[in-house]
Amino acid sequence: MDIKLKIWRQKGPKNQGNFVDYNLTGVSKDMSFLEMIDYLNKKLIENGDEPVAYEHDCREGICGSCALYINGRPHGPGDLVTTCELRMTKFTDGDTIVIEPWRARSFPVIKDLIADRFAFDKIMEAGGFIPVNTGSAPEANSIPVPKEASDEAFDAAACIGCGACVAACKNSSAMLFVAAKVSHLALLPQGKSESGKRARAMIAKMDELGFGSCTNTGACEAECPKGISLAHIARLNREYLKEGFRS
Ligand code: SF4
Ligand code: FES
Repeated sequence: MDIKLKIWRQKGPKNQGNFVDYNLTGVSKDMSFLEMIDYLNKKLIENGDEPVAYEHDCREGICGSCALYINGRPHGPGDLVTTCELRMTKFTDGDTIVIEPWRARSFPVIKDLIADRFAFDKIMEAGGFIPVNTGSAPEANSIPVPKEASDEAFDAAACIGCGACVAACKNSSAMLFVAAKVSHLALLPQGKSESGKRARAMIAKMDELGFGSCTNTGACEAECPKGISLAHIARLNREYLKEGFRS
């Protein structure tokens, strides 16, 4: 099939970017979305043009690096998929596809479609870990965890740190990401004791880095490729408030 692409091109963090149009012919429905960009880049290189810079690693929905805004949606059309899992079967001959990087003050564009998501690492540094030595893997039944808590912790741990929740939010809030990390650790015995402090530290860092506050619209949950639930934000708020009373 033949498609038209409108792709954000930007030489560097200090340069102004703009959309550039490309007509791409001979695209196979069997291609993944990233293979389609690879195909475009191959043609650009053959013509002596600079290929489009974009980020990827695992190409199987686990690393969170393929952060692209496609036709107005983080990770494009389709639910519960990352950009790398998106297939060209979602598009038809003659379609125009608009591709941009994440848009958020805390995720500045480095080049073309690559946004700097280092702010998420800084939030994790502020509290997204357990500081006690938990030793090597314990015997499975030595620390019993209720099935319900274990399932919920596992669901929260599915967050891949892609940033789609920030990109989807009109306030560029990172609440769903922070909530997933706080919830995951608060539900397990190893992380429970300092869950309030963790919530306070991570939210303070999130605010310091310029992420906005929660809009309560649920756009983050709707666009999250891992189906992280808003219920985790409720747990984050509870941990935050409880720590306020405690301290
Ligand atoms: S909560 Fe969902 S959208 Fe946000 S970073 Fe995690 S996986 Fe990505
Ligand atoms: S490239 Fe790893 S999640 Fe898409």
